[in-house]
Amino acid sequence: MKIVKFVVLISGRGSNLHAICKAGLASQIACVISNNPKASGLEFAKQFNIPTHIVDHKEFKSREDFDNKLTNIIDLYAPKFIVLAGFMRILSSWFINKYTNQIINIHPSILPAFIGNQAQKDAINAKVKISGATVHFVTDKLDLGPIIAQGIVPTDANDDTTILSERILHLEHQLYPFIIKKLLRHRVNINPDGYVIVQKDIEDKTELGNFYPAIFY
Ligand code: GRF
Repeated sequence: MKIVKFVVLISGRGSNLHAICKAGLASQIACVISNNPKASGLEFAKQFNIPTHIVDHKEFKSREDFDNKLTNIIDLYAPKFIVLAGFMRILSSWFINKYTNQIINIHPSILPAFIGNQAQKDAINAKVKISGATVHFVTDKLDLGPIIAQGIVPTDANDDTTILSERILHLEHQLYPFIIKKLLRHRVNINPDGYVIVQKDIEDKTELGNFYPAIFY
């Protein structure tokens, strides 16, 4: 029997979904949901025989109706986590509260720097010397939920938004599957002050390299 652990929400390209599948996690993805019927990432789901659902936001009168439809599908699978991978819709507080500490996102900056949807451009404009990606729980504070892990990449004086985005994306493709595996295997606690702690298996000897995850005990 298939072990079902998480659903993935996408809107477009789906390169993170692809990386998650290639890292050996495809069999643990219950389904992929896209709000965009033309999302090319849906092809990756099909390649890995993962069920797909389209919930086109344009067909719903309100955000709540759209989110309600999402929950109807998600609850069919009772997943442990809801993984956002380039999902470009803002979720309602109602949805976020229903799945407290279950929704995970990856953002292309070292949060809390550069929230919003042009993080790489903002990093270039700020002339920062390092950038990176952050995996975090989703709360109703946009991009500011409890941080699970961060990874860093250098920036270069010659970088433009495209080059920096590619460098960060390469990091994302390693960081996101790595952290999802951790979250599936280990117990996760969020302290009252928002500090995330993941309990570690004693035999877990994974090298962290440039990744800075929540403390693993
Ligand atoms: C990534 O840059 C991710 O950080 C952001 O959206 C982008 C998704 O890319 N949240 P993809 O669809 O996974 O290729």
